Amino acid sequence: MSYRASKAALNQIVRTASIELRRRNKQSVVVALHPGTVATALSEKYLNRHPSIPAEAAATRLLEVVRALRPEHSGGFYDYAMGPLPW
Ligand SMILES: NC(=O)c1ccc[n+]([C@@H]2O[C@H](COP(=O)([O-])OP(=O)(O)OC[C@H]3O[C@@H](n4cnc5c(N)ncnc54)[C@H](OP(=O)(O)O)[C@@H]3O)[C@@H](O)[C@H]2O)c1
Repeated sequence: MSYRASKAALNQIVRTASIELRRRNKQSVVVALHPGTVATALSEKYLNRHPSIPAEAAATRLLEVVRALRPEHSGGFYDYAMGPLPW
């Protein structure tokens, strides 16, 4: 429950920060990123339910998304292939 509540709070921080920062800097980009299921200690219990990738590969593909982000994406939530996710 605390994990999910912290993610909901984080989502709200991203949304609010994107709005507030845009007022000061039209080029700002604040987004939430979903890495997919990454094989880490945190996800260990769930790895048999979902395909997973190593952390380094997850970081590489998230960096590609970061390079492609533009100010018009600010406030959004995107997956590792830059697919938009509904809030
Ligand atoms: N793995 C996935 O599939 C996945 C998917 C989506 C989102 N995420 C998100 O990615 C983030 C990192 O997760 P991960 O999978 O990379 O996990 P991880 O490899 O297990 O790393 C978790 C990190 O959080 C630190 N940590 C844990 N409890 C803490 C506490 N109470 N106070 C301060 N630091 C604490 C740990 O520090 P120590 O090493 O010192 O213990 C560790 O550096 C999380 O926010 C997770 O929700 C992960």
